[in-house]
Formats: sequence, C-alpha cells, structure tokens
Amino acid sequence: MASQDSESNEVSQVGGRRLIMVSNRLPVSLERLDDDQWRTHPAAGGLVSALDPVMRQRGGVWVGWPGVADETTETLRDVLDRQYNATSDYRLEPVALTGDDIADFYEGFSNEVIWPLFHNRFTVCRFEPDYWQAYQRVNREFAHRISEVAHTGDFVWVHDYHLVNVADELRALGVDNRASFFQHIPFPTADIFCNLPWWREIVHALLSYDFIGLQTVADRTNFLDVLTMMFDRVETEAGDRGIDISIGDEGLVRHQQQLRIGTLPISIDYDHIAEVAASEESVACVERFREGWGDRTVVVGVDRLDYTKGLPEKFEAFRELLTRYPELRSHITLQQHVVPSRQQVPQYIEQKEEIERLVGEINGEFTQPGWVPIHYIFHRMDQPELMAHYQVADIALVTPLKDGMNLVAKEFCAAKRDGNGVLILSEFAGSAAELGEHALLVNPHDVVSTAERIHDACRMPVEERRQRMQAMREIISAHNAFDWVEEFLRAAGANQ
Ligand code: F6P
Repeated sequence: MASQDSESNEVSQVGGRRLIMVSNRLPVSLERLDDDQWRTHPAAGGLVSALDPVMRQRGGVWVGWPGVADETTETLRDVLDRQYNATSDYRLEPVALTGDDIADFYEGFSNEVIWPLFHNRFTVCRFEPDYWQAYQRVNREFAHRISEVAHTGDFVWVHDYHLVNVADELRALGVDNRASFFQHIPFPTADIFCNLPWWREIVHALLSYDFIGLQTVADRTNFLDVLTMMFDRVETEAGDRGIDISIGDEGLVRHQQQLRIGTLPISIDYDHIAEVAASEESVACVERFREGWGDRTVVVGVDRLDYTKGLPEKFEAFRELLTRYPELRSHITLQQHVVPSRQQVPQYIEQKEEIERLVGEINGEFTQPGWVPIHYIFHRMDQPELMAHYQVADIALVTPLKDGMNLVAKEFCAAKRDGNGVLILSEFAGSAAELGEHALLVNPHDVVSTAERIHDACRMPVEERRQRMQAMREIISAHNAFDWVEEFLRAAGANQ
C-alpha cells in the first residue's frame, strides 16, 4: 500500500477519502514520436467522456492503460507526469501492456469474447483459452498497480468488462478497500451468458465487489437470473440504494460481505455540452455546414465503428426510405460519421468493408447531379465540430442492435439548443429506458419501420418536435454525469 503523502491533484471528495478510478483506457493516449518526444491524444468513447469532467471536478487518481504497447511503467509514468499530471486536476497512473497483452487481453478476451457475447453475438465469439489466461494476467497487473497507489480507506471504482477480475485479485493481494464495479455494456440473459466457458469464474470474480452498478433494470434482471442459475439460495432485499443480495455459504464465502447491485444509467456533462455547442468555434461550424446543406433535411448518425451499432441496417433503412418515397430524393441526406475503433480485430475490419461496400452501392443507386444520398465520413472529430453537426441536423438516427446506454442520443439532445430536432432511437439502446417516451423508437432489424419513422420525423410538426426535444433535454439535464457519480457513490456506500 502507498504512503499517505498525496499530491494536490489527488484530493479526495469521497467523505475524506480519495477516489481511485480504474478503467482499461486512460482518458489520454500516448504516442511516441521519437526517443524522448511524446504526443498525448484525448481518448475517444462514452466512458471517458462521462468520467473525465467528474474527475476534473473531484480530483483523485485514475489507473489505466495509456494506449501504447511495450513501454515500461516507469517511462509511461514519467511522460504522464510531465505532460499531464503536472497541470491536471487529477493524476493518471499507468498500467503498461505488452503487444501480447493487447492482442490476447484487449483485442482477444475483452473484444472477441466478452464484447460480442454481452451484445448477444455469441456466434462470433472466439473462446480461446489463451485469451482467458491473458485476461487473468492483465487483471492481476491492474490490481498490483492499484495496490501500489491505494491508501487505506480509498474508494476503488472499477469500470467495465475488461476488468471484472480486479476486485478478486485485490482481495488475493490482501487489499480490502471498498471496491465497486460499473458495467457500461449490457448484461446478457442467462442462456447467452452461460455460453462462456468461464462464466462461473466471472460470476465468482464479480462477487468480490461490494457494489455492482448496471445501466438498466433489464441488465439487473439478467444478472440476478445468472446468480439464481448458479446458486441454490439467492436472497434479495430491495432498498433505496439498490438490491442487497445474500447467497448462502457458497457465494460470498471469501469476504462474507453482502453484495449490493443497483441500476444507475450513465449520463453526460449536460452543461458542458451545451456550452461547447454555444461556443464561437461551434457556431462558426454551424453556419458553414448550414450553407453547405441549404434547405435539405439532414439526418445525422455518429457511431464508433462496431458491428453492434447497426450500421448496415441503418443504411438499408435509408435505402428503403428513398425507394418508398422517391419525392424525398435530393431533399434528404444521411450524414454518417464513423469513428475508428478496434481496428486490429477481424470483425471490425469486416464491418468496415461491409459498410463501405453498402454505402457505395446505395450511393451508386440513387446519386443525382448535385446530390449524394449518404455522406459517409470515417474520422474522429473534436467536440465543437461534433456539436455543430448535431445542431445542424434535423434528425438523429441512433439505431444500435444492442447498446449499454449510447451517449450519442443524450449528446444530440443536449446540443440541440433550438429544441428543434427529432431523435430516432433503437429500443435496444439503454437510453431508450429514459428517452423512449419522447424519441421515435425503432427496432433496427425492421428496416421498413425504421424507414417509416424517418418519414414520420420529416413530416413532424415543429411544435411536436420542440415538445419532444424539450422533454428529453429536461430528463438529461436533471440527471447529468455528476448526479450519476453522486448516486453511484451513495449507492456503493463510498462514504461509510
Ligand atoms: O461501451 C464500452 C466502451 O468501453 C466505452 O466506454 C467506449 O466508448 C468504448 O467501449 C471504447 O472502446 P475501446 O476502449 O475499445 O476503444
């Protein structure tokens, strides 16, 4: 365990204790330029965009991988200290991964096993025993690093499917700090989950946490079903901070604690998004984009490259729309931004090829002089530009086949300062539980209905658009990322 001499950027706000965030990816990635020159890049993704503002406000330590292979912990720590920690409100503590770790733990077990399985795609899983070995090894490494930085009483908060085993490994090292876990992705039904050859080990590892947060009631129900499938005597008691679970002697033997689980849908830093959207830089982009689109209806999509995002289905729905309603041709454009992700994983390479083929095919079918139906852009964007695209769009098409939450849906609403826009949302995104009443909900597999909903959105009277958007903006602003963290820490008993 570390000594108590904390740096100023580690100041804790959790009842006098420090907050130790742990996630596979740190909020910045490092890139080595030459021997001693390094560049930092902000990391992409929902987890980072929700947690970074919170850590800036609260301070603490964030333990994770800075996105680069085969460097020593000392080198990484030195670079982060110089280029980040010296001026940051919180401290980054690196975990070094080798090329093999990245191949077998990150790309392998995390993204070719748990990710597809938990998104109901178990037929594409590669259940390689080597991947499982690497997963256990890297989780142990994370636990070691936490044990080096944690002081007695610090609150350890582990995020996501890459790091399920961390609490178990911490306990094995004799670290008994309160440790909680939040799962950002869905929890599958028991019949899907038990396809995993190591499902029992994963459940046992989860039981080493004091508290587990899940995105939706459906995820919580699935997790409870798995416990019931594994243990004879699962007793639950609902309280205002979650459900307390006891599992007789077989389950929680190692620590004798009670496990609590809660449903805590993650959110965004609403005010920050609204501020960026109102910034000079973003407003200048809005003007430029509006000039470019003229009076065309703009449908926007922003998705990480991922087979869970339903991109081929989205393009097919747009094709269906143009086929059913030829009068819309040349008056409507789908602007689809795809953010590069996991580009070494075979299924992602295939997905990119598939969507690029499909976009080419649809554009080849419908393009007219002066009009291309789908503008497909494979890139990363900075926030002001992204917010400008949301502001200019009339409709957002957020249609994942399965998604833990999907923060694009929430960011689109937060950026829509004029309140005039329609959200078309998959019923299989976690955000549908909160926004479903005011968005137009679709089953993304049903391309005909999705096409009809786009058509409905095009014709929706402006008062109705504003009413629906206003309701969603109120829901999101009343429950932002800071509220989510507060609720998590309260439910997890971080102040006890
Ligand atoms: O949704 C799970 C998640 O971990 C998000 O936090 C993030 O958007 C995304 O996956 C990033 O994935 P990766 O770290 O593999 O780039």
